[in-house]
Amino acid sequence: MRRSLFQNILRLLPAETSHRVRMTLMGLLGKIPSGRWWLKLGLAPSRKLNLEREVFGVHFRNPIGIAAGFDPNGDRLNELAASGFGFVEIGSVVPRPQPGTPRPRLRRLRKMQSLVDNSGYPSRGLEYILDNVRRRTKHTRELVIGCNIGKLTATHPDDISKEYLRVFRNMYQYVDFFVINAACNTASKQYVPRTREELLALVEPLFEFRRGQLDYCPILLKISPDLSREEIDTVVDILIETPLDGIEAVAGSFDMDPTHGGAITGAMLTDRAIEIVRYVAERSEHNYPIIGSGGVMTEEDVVRMMEAGASLVALNTGIRENGMRLLKRAANRIATPRETNEDNTK
Ligand SMILES: Cc1cc2nc3c(=O)[nH]c(=O)nc-3n(C[C@H](O)[C@H](O)[C@H](O)COP(=O)(O)O)c2cc1C
Repeated sequence: MRRSLFQNILRLLPAETSHRVRMTLMGLLGKIPSGRWWLKLGLAPSRKLNLEREVFGVHFRNPIGIAAGFDPNGDRLNELAASGFGFVEIGSVVPRPQPGTPRPRLRRLRKMQSLVDNSGYPSRGLEYILDNVRRRTKHTRELVIGCNIGKLTATHPDDISKEYLRVFRNMYQYVDFFVINAACNTASKQYVPRTREELLALVEPLFEFRRGQLDYCPILLKISPDLSREEIDTVVDILIETPLDGIEAVAGSFDMDPTHGGAITGAMLTDRAIEIVRYVAERSEHNYPIIGSGGVMTEEDVVRMMEAGASLVALNTGIRENGMRLLKRAANRIATPRETNEDNTK
């Protein structure tokens, strides 16, 4: 993996600090007049590449985006748009601010190119995030924004679906799609609904609310890599039988964590994530959109994810550990050349 000098310096810092430094620098660049232009020049895929696609009725300028937990509060939407990403999944959005787990809560397993995430969804909460998405500027016009809804650490299991509905209703008119997190990693406590009843309890109130709206906003379910074959079959049955629009596979893995300190993300997850994407795609006869997430560390992983059946690919640890240029390299691998005007007139 080719890493820039900047990325190698970032990797000398603890995992959470290095991410903060990146996001702070990006924010500073976004504030100076030519900063966004520099981000675009250095990081965004060439306009000459044909990367556009329509997925669940939404137009994406390219299929590579940012997974939840990277810009949880939607603070860097302008800068991520300038950097050329096709979409950003903000969140997990929770109804109230919460601090997350005390630090250190993100460990780097350097040799394995993986992280152990026990961050516990630190969030500034719904009101703050709403403010950020409401103030979307013209710079984010081409950026698709997804809202990942997750659970507050303190919420009692009986109240989770009410909590999800509250965030969904408030965010509905401001985002382009929703991801319902069915693999929450809140302060060492997993919340992974696995049965048909548990999963339907989460999504049915959302379908009900959407039925009463003029605009249609797609709803996807994000699943855990720790589900058994039978549990994945249940998810696919729900996908086929209900108005669910797609699946995001996968979140971090608790089962793979040798330290039992959180959820594994990064290279240790790659093969499992691709295997699940392929299984869901085949079982649903390639009829439903899948966002591939989990261990996408290189441009080859992006290609493998898409060959397995992902329509979109969401990055997190790959960018944290290998840098933002991953987008450009992956775009060069998956693009088809754009037809010239001359070709169009033939
Ligand atoms: C620090 C960190 C925070 C995360 N926070 C969230 C979150 O709030 N909600 C969520 O659904 N997933 C969250 N994730 C999981 C990622 O969105 C992604 O599904 C997972 O990391 C696997 O992809 P990766 O291997 O490319 O990182 C987080 C991951 C990391 C590393």
